[in-house]
This record gives sequence, structure tokens and C-alpha cells, in this order.
Amino acid sequence: MSNHSPFGIELFDGVSGEELFSVNMGLTYRDFLVLPGYIDFNPSDVELETKLSKNISLKRPLMSSPMDTVTETDMAIAQALMGGIGIIHYNNSLDEQVELVKKVKRYENGFIKDPILLSPEHTIADLDAIKEKHGFSGIPITEDGTQSGKLVGMVTNRDVDFEPNRSTKLGKVMTKDLITASQGISLKEANDILRTSKKGKLPIVDTQGRLVALICRSDLKKNKEFPYASKDDSKKLRVGAAISTLPESRDRVAALSAVGVDVITIDSAQGNSSYQIEMIQFIKKNYPTIDIIAGNVVTQGQAANLIAAGADGLRIGMGPGSICITQDTMAVGRAQATAVFKTAQYAAKHNVPVIADGGISNIGDIANALAIGASMCMMGSMFAGTKEAPGEYFYENGIRLKKYRGMASLEAMNKGGDKRYFSESQKIKVAQGVSGYVVDKGSVLNLIPYLIQGLRQSFQDMGYRTIPELHSALRQGKLRFERRTESAQAQGSVHGLYSYTKPSMRVE
Ligand code: IMP
Repeated sequence: MSNHSPFGIELFDGVSGEELFSVNMGLTYRDFLVLPGYIDFNPSDVELETKLSKNISLKRPLMSSPMDTVTETDMAIAQALMGGIGIIHYNNSLDEQVELVKKVKRYENGFIKDPILLSPEHTIADLDAIKEKHGFSGIPITEDGTQSGKLVGMVTNRDVDFEPNRSTKLGKVMTKDLITASQGISLKEANDILRTSKKGKLPIVDTQGRLVALICRSDLKKNKEFPYASKDDSKKLRVGAAISTLPESRDRVAALSAVGVDVITIDSAQGNSSYQIEMIQFIKKNYPTIDIIAGNVVTQGQAANLIAAGADGLRIGMGPGSICITQDTMAVGRAQATAVFKTAQYAAKHNVPVIADGGISNIGDIANALAIGASMCMMGSMFAGTKEAPGEYFYENGIRLKKYRGMASLEAMNKGGDKRYFSESQKIKVAQGVSGYVVDKGSVLNLIPYLIQGLRQSFQDMGYRTIPELHSALRQGKLRFERRTESAQAQGSVHGLYSYTKPSMRVE
């Protein structure tokens, strides 16, 4: 235990977690602070290893929400590389969701497994369009423009720059004399070939001459090591997938399990239902090796039912999400900090980790959620607007934005997102979420290290090096808190300045 006094003094100021949440009033993360402890270590000594579910440990307590503007393949890969996990949403067909999961499982650092392809029949104008949209040229050409056709050439800027007729077919201008490497080559070997050949791209082909991956010279410099990456036993990145409680989800579980999904999240706004309990029991009986995160719940009674049914982890939150209007619309829910503390208090007795889901907008919220018993923090808006979130950027008044929408916004529901709200067959749809825009936050690969560094500093201030130490201090009443009055909150934020610049989360 690191939060000790060098003189053996045990003097507890403030209140325990139990006392803090004993008031008959729901608290949010902003309503309290953790009192500082004793520092005898550096932020770099803080280890943030944690539990996602009964059987899955992760190196870092951050994860992305199953929302169609947050988590698809790119986000899930980035989250897993950074030591957390992404949960692929299910506002799509079974085949589409399975394909997204499969791509995460197929990921290998440095290898582009599904490059953009064209065929010899495409024109230079098609190449121009790709260049404009994605900002790169250097496109592999396969017989039929798909990955099942043989690789027949490459086109780069140099092949087309001075060609005035943009309707010329690529078959005429492409480079046919290619340097390729065989499937199974290591990244280091591939990089050596790129270096000596001075080419921009190295296609990797199988024994039939079909393209299986592409390696880019421009990525060489960017290739980072990911020592915290979340990997399964066969060293593939971990990934989760969400399902609804509807009967059709049984087919999804079968298909998702076949492609190696690590964890299934049963995504329901009010998780304490007979449908969810039946789904948990069905999965546990038929797919005993897949961990189930059940939810969402906010009370101990709800948590108890799902744990009794066999849940391996719980998702906590009803109404705190940034895009959420559930509490206004339904008058049902709970203030998030109280929900996290109460459910975690119960779940800890059953060794079931809880995930604080929604309402997290800065490092302090993450630290607070962990301090009151959460093992993981799930975020939507924090990761929306990053490069890895689905959707294209656009500009409004000179600001680069991306769309972020609630799964119960009318827009998402019309696409099928209402499966978590028991309203899928109802003709009149009542929205429980909104659709909006968030600013560009750069790459998750830069944002997460920023969040982690801040979190380490916060742990240092609290005087704890690990999440289990923090949780055990919470349970023993040694972690001390203080309620914040409104004026304390005002004092704790910037005040009295004529103007100032807010630190940006966009890390280059
Ligand atoms: P955020 O991190 O505050 O943006 O909240 C994200 C969380 O909000 C998700 O993980 C869901 O639990 C929840 N959520 C997603 N869509 C909706 C919605 O339309 N209404 C209410 N809550 C939602």
C-alpha cells in the first residue's frame, strides 16, 4: 500500500466513499473530489492494469462505446493497440458487424490488410477521385479490382502525372514490373525490402499471386511499438461486439464467436429485463468461453439480477451520456457517480468488474470513476471526432468537425439503432438521444497517451500506484473524499480572467 505516512500517522480527514454516497441525492463526478494522499513514487510508476470482465484483464482502463459514430474497425484496432478495447456497434447487418470484427482480428501492425484497389479497366479519373478523398495514390491494380483477383500492377503519381487524358484506362499506364514479397514475411524483412528497393509501396502476395496486404514506406517512420496492446492467447488484438436482447441476436453471437470475438456486450438502455437474462443464459450455455458484459444498470437490484444470471462484467449508466436525453424524456435513470459507486459496491463482492459508461469528458472524470469503484471507463464523445471514428470530417465556420449521434437519436433509430430501447416495433419513435457534431481531436493513438499521462499524475496525487490498491483503499474507507459546493466547483474551475486559452485535447 503506497498511501502511507512515513511516520506511521493514520489521520483520516474528509469522508469515506460510503459516507459520501449515503446522502439521499444523486451525485455526479463534478460533485466531489478525492483528497490527496502521500506521494513516494513518480507518475511513471503508476500501472493502470485492470479488469474488463471476470476473465479478461487489460493494461489500461479505457474503452470506446458501441455507437455507429464511434466504434468500427479502425477505432477498435486503435483502442486495443493502446491497451483498452473497442466494442463494435450493431447498427448494421450481421454480416457487416462480423466483417468489422474480423478485420480487427486480422490486424497486424504495419500491414494494410484491405487496401483500396482498382482494376485495369478503371481510369486515371478514378485514381484522381481516390487521391482527392483519401490523400494518397500508389494503388495496387488487381485483375478485377478486388482482393480475390491476381495482382497485375501498381499505379503511382509518376505513372499518371503528365497524362492529359484522364479517361485513359489504368491498364495502359500502370507499372507491371513489380517488386513483391510473399505472405508470411515479417515486418522487419518487408521494411528492409522497401528500404533497398526505394519503392513507396510493397505488395504482399500469396502463392496464387493474390494481394494479401500492402506495406507503405510513409508508414515506416510512423510504425510505433505498442507494448500495452490488448491481445488474446493467439496474439491477435482483442475486440468486443454489441448485440441487442432481440432473438435475432442469437445468430449474431454464433457468427461473432466463429470469428473470435473476445467479449459480447448486451446493449440495452435498461438492462434489468427478462430478455437480457434469457440472452445471458443462452450465451453462457452455448458459448461458455465468451465473456459477457451486461447492462446497462444503475442500481444494486438491477446489478444483482444480471450477476445472478451469469454476467462477467456490468456496464453502468442510464442518462449521463453527452448525447443522451433519457432522463429528460423518461424521468428514469440515476446520477452517474452514485450509480457507479452503488453498483460497484455490490458487484465487487461477486468479483464482477463494472464499467462506468457515459458522461466522461475529461481526465478528472476518469480518475473519479475509478476512485469510486469502476474498473473501466467507456467513452463515446471523448473518442468521437478522432481520426479513427467512423465518418468523414467537414468544416463549419473554419472548424473541422465530425458527426456524433446517440443510438436513440431519430437519425440512428431510423437505421436500426433503437434495438437497445425496446421500441423497435413501435411506429411512433420517441428519441432518447440527439445527433450533433464534435471537433476534430486528431488520432486516438495520440489522445490516449495524453489521457493516460494525466491519469498517472492523478493517481500520484491520490497516493496510489494501481487500480486494485485504489479500490481496496476505497473499500476500507481509507480513500477520502469531499463534497463540492457550487462555489467550490466554481473556484475549482478557471475564474476571474478576462480571457484564456483552454488546453486542447488535440495532441499532435
Ligand atoms: P458519452 O461518453 O458521454 O458521449 O456517452 C456515451 C454513452 O451514452 C454510450 O456508451 C451509451 O451508454 C450512451 N448512449 C448512446 N446513445 C445514446 C442515446 O441515444 N441516448 C442515451 N444514451 C445513449
